[in-house]
Amino acid sequence: MDIDLLVVGSGFYGLTMAEQCAEKLGMKVAIIESRHHIGGNAYSEIEPETGIEVHRYGAHLFHTSNERVWDYVTRFTSFTDYRHHVLTRVGDQVFQMPINLGTINSFFKAAYTPDEARALIANQSQELGDKEPENLEEKAISLIGRPLYEAFIKGYTAKQWETDPALLPPGIISRLPVRYNYNARYFSDTYEGLPVDGYTAWLEKMADHKNIEVHLNTDFFDTSQPFNKDSAVGQLPIVYTGPVDRYFDYAEGDLSWRTLDFEKEVLPVGDFQGTSVMNYGDQDVPFTRIHEFRHFHPERNYPKDKTVIMREYSRFANRNDEPYYPVNTTKDRERLAAYREAMAGEKNVLFGGRLGTYQYLDMHMAIASALTAFDNRITPHVKTGEDIA
Ligand code: FDA
Repeated sequence: MDIDLLVVGSGFYGLTMAEQCAEKLGMKVAIIESRHHIGGNAYSEIEPETGIEVHRYGAHLFHTSNERVWDYVTRFTSFTDYRHHVLTRVGDQVFQMPINLGTINSFFKAAYTPDEARALIANQSQELGDKEPENLEEKAISLIGRPLYEAFIKGYTAKQWETDPALLPPGIISRLPVRYNYNARYFSDTYEGLPVDGYTAWLEKMADHKNIEVHLNTDFFDTSQPFNKDSAVGQLPIVYTGPVDRYFDYAEGDLSWRTLDFEKEVLPVGDFQGTSVMNYGDQDVPFTRIHEFRHFHPERNYPKDKTVIMREYSRFANRNDEPYYPVNTTKDRERLAAYREAMAGEKNVLFGGRLGTYQYLDMHMAIASALTAFDNRITPHVKTGEDIA
């Protein structure tokens, strides 16, 4: 088919954009995707031995308070009533996260009221007096005090960043949530749940439109492919959701990312840890958390004698790794500013999504951002011919 729009990347940003252009403007859209599957990092697959749905690129929990996003996503899937809770293991004890009154009382072996706990933490946060925090450790102590910092933040953060928190900049954290009640729900959005038939069914439904064609295993920078950067730029409008530094051939330098390594294991037990996500706060445990996927769907008829777990390890990414979380150093921000100038000069190319804009986006944020860009960029382009960039 003749193509009106090329979308590079089939994550939630690219799929939302393609679906809206096809459905609302009747545009013919080609999506190219370098992986062998659609959906970006939200993709999930069935583990063959157990039939359990595994989130291939790390646990994905859907939550939003954005009515437009909720109305949009519920066109493609319904959601279970799953509510996310996180526990953390420190030493031989397990605590609720984020830190709440239950965490504080278990940790201090006390029965503080909300006001007593608030006063205790306020007092412990005063350790550094008026001194301006010079590193992440000092910043964390100034927010929640040393005992809670050392138990719940220090080891976990050191593992996430492969760096002693005393050597990390204070700006990495602006707040550390502490709840002075027993609310243990991880998210506080209006809507929360998991897609009833799984992520991949949802993602495939978004792409299932007569005006959309999807080309898997197709890299935008592979000039042997029919749709590639050399042949497409300037010829038709492009929505690009791959890494922005890669687009410009790293001309301004690499933007730094953290990546994750996942170690999946099928175990001959019906329940390994009794919950979906267990963090590990101790520095001598090499992984940051363990996911147990059966707990995301208690409503499903999963086997009672087998389970799937996935250990998660965090490290800095190099060019060949999957980029997961932007590191966002001062150097990264300078480079991003230079790339933004280059983006502005790129005719009819819209840079979107988490990789195209170098920012962490939850799924609902990627979808909201695509819906807004559709309104503000694509619709005017179709009506007046103005550039989509
Ligand atoms: P996304 O990365 O999903 O898609 C980009 C696509 O572009 C990829 O499929 C990639 O292969 C493709 N691509 C890149 N370069 C290309 C090229 N040269 N040619 C062709 N294709 C190319 N969100 C949430 O709401 N709840 C959660 O619990 C989580 N959990 C979570 C865990 C982890 C470990 C990560 C990294 C992320 C999450 N997220 C999340 C966020 C979510 O995965 C995702 O970031 C958003 O849905 C953003 O979607 P995008 O479309 O922007 O990018």
